[in-house]
Amino acid sequence: MTMDTATLTPDTAPPPTAPPAPYDVEAVRRDFPILGETVHGKPVVYLDTGASAQKPRQVLDAMERLQTQAYANVHRGTYLFSAESTRLYEAARETVQAFINAGSEREVVFTANATDGINLVAQTWARANIGAGDAVLITELEHHANIVPWQMLRDAVGCELRVVPVTEDGALDMAAFDRLLDETVKLVAVSHCSNVLGTIQPVAEITRRAHAVGARVLIDGSQAVVHGPVDVRDIDCDFYAFTGHKLYGPTGIGVLYGKLDLLEAMPPWKGGGDMIESVSFDKTVYAAPPARFEAGTPPIVEAIGLAAAIAYMRGLGMDAIAAHEGDLLRYAMQRLSSVEGLTIHGTATPKAAVISFSMAGIHPQDLSMLLDRSGLCLRAGHHCAQPLMEILGVTGTTRASFGLYNTRADVDALVSALDRAREILA
Ligand code: ALA
Repeated sequence: MTMDTATLTPDTAPPPTAPPAPYDVEAVRRDFPILGETVHGKPVVYLDTGASAQKPRQVLDAMERLQTQAYANVHRGTYLFSAESTRLYEAARETVQAFINAGSEREVVFTANATDGINLVAQTWARANIGAGDAVLITELEHHANIVPWQMLRDAVGCELRVVPVTEDGALDMAAFDRLLDETVKLVAVSHCSNVLGTIQPVAEITRRAHAVGARVLIDGSQAVVHGPVDVRDIDCDFYAFTGHKLYGPTGIGVLYGKLDLLEAMPPWKGGGDMIESVSFDKTVYAAPPARFEAGTPPIVEAIGLAAAIAYMRGLGMDAIAAHEGDLLRYAMQRLSSVEGLTIHGTATPKAAVISFSMAGIHPQDLSMLLDRSGLCLRAGHHCAQPLMEILGVTGTTRASFGLYNTRADVDALVSALDRAREILA
């Protein structure tokens, strides 16, 4: 099952009286040391997983274990520490391959983050394949990371940038998508899940339609891989980028999946050590993918941390995580809709457990600062999606983004704090 299907779809039925068994969220919470901390003397209620997830002990331990027991640089040494670090680094690639069901571990490129992966495609595949008279199709739902690289491409090669509008409830306007998609479109670049509205795009269908006109498809999956199972072969996308730190792993590590024939035909972006077969002053022969795209010492410890995070999530079960978060989403949507003066932005389904809202008469930053005093961590502002804010007619929103460790009690804490905030600020 992939996230194109109903995994995360909240239905319209009332929430069940209890979260689905056998997901033991209290046991999950004990794996995250930071959730036992306090904020301004109050128990922490972390509702900003969309910005960055907290890390379980298993990830922290894996990273510490490597650095205290067998750390060395990879692909360079013949001694035991280097061989062991190399083995774990390449095993991490296989873990990612299995996680997204890529056809080969060679289709998994380690990057710094999702932004880095998208820029890699923009600077290599796109520059070689897109020119004046061609178009790139993006959507109004995109994060700046999936807008700015294409504007830079447009400014460099003279292509057109087209934007698919969203409907009032926060879905992609697929009729407009069809109107904007023609043979001049060489790339469709779309987020799998909106970081602001939580809307999940029908990426397999988008890919099918794009391929029918000869366009390639890049998916920004940063907000999607964290919420449920993703299968890149099922989607059939050409590129899929995501980041490690939202996936309960460390910062500084991301993944670009690319179909092998595309990666093999792509020139490198960054040059340096580890991305070459041979170098002389006359000529350099580049390594095959993925090494071709991993110049310099890679994020070794971070890759191993990412693999530990994926193992942790798979241990819980991706479907179980999706079901738990689906329950939280239904519960939160129901409870938040009863808060006086609160407007939820984005009610279209399927939707991940990401809820952006405005409170009448209260600036999102003021609201977020007041929530912080009660121990609640929520992001407020434009969420790196300024064009979408303009379309929503707001300068910013407050966003509750849920993760695998959140509970219905977190939702209750949010609702109580919002009621108090309204009394103080409105
Ligand atoms: N992209 C991250 C967010 O949505 C930082 O908050």
